[in-house]
Amino acid sequence: MKKVTVFAPATVANVAVGFDLLGFPLDCVGDTVTVEVTKKARVVEILKIDYDLDGGVELPLDPANNTATVGMMALVKDLALVHGFRVSIKKGIPIGSGMGGSAASSVAALVAANALLERPLTKNELFPYALMGEKLATGSAHPDNVSPCLFGGLTLTRSAAPVETVSIPVPSFIYCVLVHPHLRLDTRESRGVLAPQIDLKAHVRQSANLAGFIAGCYREDPKLIASSLKDVLIEPQRERLIPGFARAQDTALGHGALGCSISGSGPSVFAWTDARATAESVALAMVSAFAGAGVKADSWVSKISAQGARIVPP
Ligand code: HSE
Repeated sequence: MKKVTVFAPATVANVAVGFDLLGFPLDCVGDTVTVEVTKKARVVEILKIDYDLDGGVELPLDPANNTATVGMMALVKDLALVHGFRVSIKKGIPIGSGMGGSAASSVAALVAANALLERPLTKNELFPYALMGEKLATGSAHPDNVSPCLFGGLTLTRSAAPVETVSIPVPSFIYCVLVHPHLRLDTRESRGVLAPQIDLKAHVRQSANLAGFIAGCYREDPKLIASSLKDVLIEPQRERLIPGFARAQDTALGHGALGCSISGSGPSVFAWTDARATAESVALAMVSAFAGAGVKADSWVSKISAQGARIVPP
């Protein structure tokens, strides 16, 4: 086998209550990366980047400056490979959308390269290389997109180094709505607005919400999930960066969502519901709420995918 294609899903990071430590993948949108073996020892090249959505932004073709390949460059060096890799990227995730695009490209490229190795690494061993893509893209090696993208499911990163992740069960009735307003928000900027210190009372409330949310998932208790799925720490600091956010959130809750908050660093917004029909109506309502604020938006309705990055036909 000399060539492998991998699909890696879009992910919702933070999940309102777990800043930099919780995330989950969608089942319907992601990036696809094809990696082939070349004869050039330890050389990583990018052949091409295709974009499903024309956002007018082009990613660098220089492998040292592309999130998909920076980790792979470290991998070929650390393993002292006698061959190299040529990479083709298909971006299905809009750039700067808060849908985990840099993690998806990085994870897809590494999982594909790993499948071409004589002695493949474990997912835990690939993890630090995938984080290098996040560090390059945002200046911070936060793990909450990489973990669910690599492992699948609602994933808590208890520790990134050494890597320790916990898969949290999600009740089967849960559907996620993801709405992407046609705006671009740079994660560096979105992290830059956050105060370095937090208020003690807000910390206590957020801890209660995180614990309640996780207990609600284990107990399959939609009421506990709904009362807990509230971000009192990060959302209040970031919502002003997303025109129409407050209106979209109110609308989602008014149409029966269990909770609604910013996806990752935004501008996308996610909601959880306890039925597919509710999710469909929440999605329509949120898109029209953004339209009311003068912002066009796309939406997806998805289960919380149990699958992370996987090999697909080319
Ligand atoms: N946890 C990160 C943040 C996710 O909110 O900045 C970025 O995708």
